[in-house]
Amino acid sequence: MAKSLNLGMIGYGFMGRAHSNAYRKVNHFFDLEYRPVLKAICARDASKAEAFAKNWGYESVETDWRKLVERPDIDVIDICTPNNLHHEIALAAARAGKMILCEKPLAMNSQEGAEMVEAVEKAGVANMVWYNYRRLPAVALAKKLVEQGRLGRIFHYRAVFLQDWTISADLPQGGAALWRLDAAAAGSGVTGDLLAHCIDTALWINGGIERVTAMTETFVKERKHNLTGKVEPVGIDDACAFLARFKNGSLATFESTRYARGHKALYTFEINGEKASIQWDLLDLHRLSYFDHRDESGLRGWRSIHVTDGEHPYMSHWWVPGLQIGYEHSFVHQVADFLEGLAQKIPASPTFRDALETQQVCDAVLRSAKSGEWVAVK
Ligand SMILES: NC(=O)c1ccc[n+]([C@@H]2O[C@H](COP(=O)([O-])OP(=O)(O)OC[C@H]3O[C@@H](n4cnc5c(N)ncnc54)[C@H](O)[C@@H]3O)[C@@H](O)[C@H]2O)c1
Repeated sequence: MAKSLNLGMIGYGFMGRAHSNAYRKVNHFFDLEYRPVLKAICARDASKAEAFAKNWGYESVETDWRKLVERPDIDVIDICTPNNLHHEIALAAARAGKMILCEKPLAMNSQEGAEMVEAVEKAGVANMVWYNYRRLPAVALAKKLVEQGRLGRIFHYRAVFLQDWTISADLPQGGAALWRLDAAAAGSGVTGDLLAHCIDTALWINGGIERVTAMTETFVKERKHNLTGKVEPVGIDDACAFLARFKNGSLATFESTRYARGHKALYTFEINGEKASIQWDLLDLHRLSYFDHRDESGLRGWRSIHVTDGEHPYMSHWWVPGLQIGYEHSFVHQVADFLEGLAQKIPASPTFRDALETQQVCDAVLRSAKSGEWVAVK
């Protein structure tokens, strides 16, 4: 019998659903020492929280996250709220001795992030941040190929994350669903929301970033605020592009915008090495493109690897070769890795400390966009 791990989740939005789905599935597909129990869901609206609890099988409902964090029957707090609550909830949860799973970005800024790292490390509680793209089999395969040295010396890293949902100037900012446009709730715009994912993947695959130079733009300068009813300045970056130098000597370009008409979630990265290159695209997430210069010259070309074989990362837990999995499975894999880490007493990454590095790159990017200078990542 697996040991029960009682979960208390805060927030029942997009991520609340993605995580709940993962908790419900994980033990059916992975043989694990621990089993998450959906003990409590917390949100401010009791009737909506009740409906969510009924749909997903949560045993109880709380409307105040402080009460949830203090409950003795809760082992793990899962933070699925907007970014401005991550810090306060994590500090309280660490004080209460709870393990913490926190959505990305870790915090509103590096200072908050550093305090969160200190809190979990002082409390000695297991912690992890949901940078889930690392857990897609094709992305994990990319990491493996780089680690094996198949690309040789890395010259270039190129990442984009493009969306188009905030182009209308009539879209308000703030409140449910639109908190991402409100700097007070989100901290930043595309930098913390989208580029944070690109940066996490890049740091994981290609190592640390030394310095950056960035530009940002806010195309719509004022929007009606849903919470005040007034037209207010927009404080987030609608678009951000930056250049980076990695510690391994490679050069990078990163670009993100919510103003790329026609793109809903185009996350791609490409890595060019001395011997080989790889390319990945979220819209075709089960494929990894690979070009190896050592192939026979007349037959050389880009291979499109369908990452569905049992020997590919995570795939032996799913169906038969050739049958692909999707976005939601990255969360199942992340829970599985967290639970395996607990059993083995090896923290699953990214821990709060790992995620702080991404936060520091985001902060350097935003500082550079303001000053127009190259900025060293702390
Ligand atoms: N890993 C990923 O790919 C990914 C994707 C989307 C969002 N996120 C992150 O997840 C977090 C949540 O984003 P989302 O898209 O799920 O947002 P959402 O708006 O869909 O859900 C947010 C939830 O938080 C709840 N909430 C807000 N204030 C609260 C409070 N004081 N007490 C209790 N509950 C409260 C809301 O009621 C809502 O249920 C953000 O930090 C976001 O950056 C990560």
